[in-house]
Amino acid sequence: MKIAIALLLALAAIDSLSALSWRRKKQKKRAKEGWRRTKKGWERLNLPPDSKLQVGVTYRPKHCSAKSQKGDFISIHYNGTLFTNGNVFDSSILREYPFVFQLGKRSTHDGFEKGLLGMCVGEKRKLVVASGMAYGEVGGFGSEGAAKIKPNATLVYGVELLEILSEEAAAPDMVWGL
Ligand SMILES: *[C@@H]1O[C@H](CO)[C@@H](O)[C@H](O)[C@H]1NC(C)=O
Ligand SMILES: *[C@@H]1O[C@H](CO)[C@@H](O)[C@H](O)[C@H]1NC(C)=O
Repeated sequence: MKIAIALLLALAAIDSLSALSWRRKKQKKRAKEGWRRTKKGWERLNLPPDSKLQVGVTYRPKHCSAKSQKGDFISIHYNGTLFTNGNVFDSSILREYPFVFQLGKRSTHDGFEKGLLGMCVGEKRKLVVASGMAYGEVGGFGSEGAAKIKPNATLVYGVELLEILSEEAAAPDMVWGL
């Protein structure tokens, strides 16, 4: 009986130690990415406004029949989160409605105009967009989500290219340019 209890205690100790080291590893990784623990939770500072756009491919489909280019009508799904705290400010996925627009017409910010070029249908990317290529010194306004985008906010997007459409197919859902 005593041995069984000792064994159980030892197992519990090992378990909590490995949980601790896992947590420590995770914290180290976060610290490397610039996160700091504050009273409000994990936070990090916005990147300088003129920071380069970061484009990471997170999923590459086996077959790539066509790549997006300027002038294409594209349909995407995206999640937009704040670089500073990871909070979601907008998501076409939660809205259950894809975002449709024509590339190269300045109907959206430069982060999307540049970060969605040369993309295969079905490909997924992570974009880190500094404020200079997003909503600048003004920030977002006009909707509840946009209002969460403070001045100089760096934005992090998960995007998926759903389709490249013909103009006729795109028209009903299009977000028209300026
Ligand atoms: C935004 O950035 C600009 C230029 O870097 C700076 O002058 C301004 O004070 C910043 N605004 C806020 C609210 O931090
Ligand atoms: C958006 O977030 C949801 C929930 O976390 C996730 O399942 C989905 O893969 C994300 N989509 C993109 C395009 O990043």
